[in-house]
Amino acid sequence: MRGNLVKGSLFFAIIMILFISANFANATPATQAGEFSSEDFDYESKCRQCHAIIYADWEGTMHFNAYLDPFYLEEVKIASDDTDGALDEFCSRCHTPIGVVSGEIPPIDGSEMSDISKLGVQCDFCHVVSGSNGTGNAPFTVTPGETKWGPFNDSRDAYHKSEYLELYTQSEYCGMCHQVINPVNGLVIDDTYSTWKESQYAEEDVVCQDCHMTEGITEFKANPGRASSSAPKREHISSHDIVGANTLIPPMFGADNVAEMAVERLQKAATMEVSAPEVASAGDEVLIDVSITNTGAGHNIPTGVSEIREMWLEVTVTDANGNSIYNAGNVDIDGNIVDAKQIYNNILGDSDGKETKSFWLAESILEDNRIGPKETVTEQHSFVLPENAVYPVTVETALKYRSAPQELIDKLLGEETEVPIVDMNEMSAIIYDPSTPADERTQPEPESESTPGFGIFATLMVLGITMYIFKRSKGEN
Ligand code: HEC
Ligand code: HEC
Ligand code: HEC
Ligand code: HEC
Ligand code: HEC
Repeated sequence: MRGNLVKGSLFFAIIMILFISANFANATPATQAGEFSSEDFDYESKCRQCHAIIYADWEGTMHFNAYLDPFYLEEVKIASDDTDGALDEFCSRCHTPIGVVSGEIPPIDGSEMSDISKLGVQCDFCHVVSGSNGTGNAPFTVTPGETKWGPFNDSRDAYHKSEYLELYTQSEYCGMCHQVINPVNGLVIDDTYSTWKESQYAEEDVVCQDCHMTEGITEFKANPGRASSSAPKREHISSHDIVGANTLIPPMFGADNVAEMAVERLQKAATMEVSAPEVASAGDEVLIDVSITNTGAGHNIPTGVSEIREMWLEVTVTDANGNSIYNAGNVDIDGNIVDAKQIYNNILGDSDGKETKSFWLAESILEDNRIGPKETVTEQHSFVLPENAVYPVTVETALKYRSAPQELIDKLLGEETEVPIVDMNEMSAIIYDPSTPADERTQPEPESESTPGFGIFATLMVLGITMYIFKRSKGEN
């Protein structure tokens, strides 16, 4: 008995040691501010000589713009004033990582920054990440120099040495920066990584890269090609069009293509259903249920700085003569959203419990109205059908998104900057006069893209499974 117990404890101890060392194998101390010089890093123009396609993908994305983004630059100035500079290094660590590790920022006004630091999240930052100390608040370790780390374990040396690091193929890589915690009070202000981690996607091993670094957008899709001129052909090369939902900033840098990709992603994020009565009489109270399901995003919609983002439903009811019967969620001439039932975002509270969009001052979350992965929410709208309404009556609903309230951008960037509003999806229904024969009461077809028929669905499933198997064997070749 005792012998078994000793053997048992020894076994347990060995398992624990293995477990602990496996968990900390990747943990390396985070690089501190000023450990390097910006001259230790290579300009992106160097990488472009051989990795031209990857360069073209990255150019104009929000990683390229992460520092020069005028919205960021305005907000960080205010944050710095509000906190007497206490958060200067904190904010900069994700928005200009080279600026921080080379000690060129703070000062927050950028007066000591080299050109390379201003290039935001770039090639020779991302590919000299040699380890990390976990997720959240950018705990990266960088080792600038001749070795470039990446997803291949069989890359031959080129101008540089190549080293495989599994981290590049995992959500934890992105989770270093896409998880923001206020360092003063511990409030989680960007929970993109942790929301993903708790979702079904994490369980099924669908990582950030599967959606954001392939053409698939909402699922992994193989993309055969060469990682560099003169490199061997591979079954899959990651796309560096790492795009989310921002349609405001990329066009300011001439990257309309990035904004177009953002629209495409937004249009794949959610499906809708409208339930309205097929007939109604004048004077009836008509109830309309509109449901929205997050079918395409591996995190909340919206996510990121979601106290600033806005998603809402516009509902418009008109009669056959085009007379308006009911309206919710229209945008007025000043860009304000009028009478929306709900704005889907995160509402942060300051130290007085008042709403604030300045997340560096936030101490609590007052309301969280975002839609989680695979979650469905339903809004109910109602109106009384007027006596003079001309049949048939049309109910139109549209799911809208914008990167920021117009009012905030007016204040920060001037009134000539219009925040684009994206139609993520739309659905309509028709209400008939009760005397209309049942076979004449036709309803509009839902858009085919958002509700694929079973055939397409089955094909996608099979394709998805094949891709999945292929993808998981990628790291082992
Ligand atoms: C935000 C960080 C980030 C930036 C910026 C970035 N990369 Fe990558 N890169 C990655 C990740 C992550 C992978 C691996 C993705 C996977 O395999 O799942 C990767 C893969 C690669 C690969 C392997 C081939 C491939 O595409 O799969 C090369 C080569 C590469 N990147 C070069 C570059 C160059 C050149 C730039 C600048 C133009 C750049 N990267 C910018 C993160 C980044
Ligand atoms: C002289 C051409 C050349 C230049 C310049 C160049 N690379 Fe590469 N790089 C290659 C080749 C060739 C490969 C191998 C591709 C393969 O194995 O499919 C490669 C592979 C890579 C990989 C994949 C490594 C791995 O093991 O997963 C990364 C990451 C990478 N390069 C990043 C960069 C970055 C960042 C720069 C700029 C600082 C850069 N490269 C400059 C030619 C070049
Ligand atoms: C199942 C596919 C999928 C996965 C997995 C996924 N995303 Fe997304 N992501 C999307 C789609 C679709 C959108 C556009 C809709 C939206 O804004 O949420 C998006 C948007 C975003 C945005 C912009 C959000 C906004 O509203 O401003 C960011 C940032 C982002 N993703 C980061 C990540 C990170 C980091 C991970 C991994 C932790 C990840 N995504 C995993 C599909 C995915
Ligand atoms: C060094 C920190 C860092 C790392 C690592 C990083 N990101 Fe980002 N990412 C940022 C910053 C900062 C921005 C936003 C810049 C801005 O909006 O001004 C951003 C923007 C984005 C956007 C655009 C969001 C939008 O609203 O359109 C997406 C999508 C995204 N990242 C996905 C990823 C994915 C996927 C990975 C992992 C492969 C990753 N990021 C790794 C810092 C990082
Ligand atoms: C741990 C990394 C990290 C830190 C620290 C961080 N950010 Fe960001 N920031 C991001 C990422 C990632 C995004 C993009 C999220 C998205 O698009 O939804 C972003 C987006 C933003 C945006 C929106 C830009 C746009 O064009 O929509 C602003 C403004 C911003 N950050 C300001 C700040 C300020 C000010 C601080 C310091 C108080 C700060 N950030 C600290 C990672 C970080």
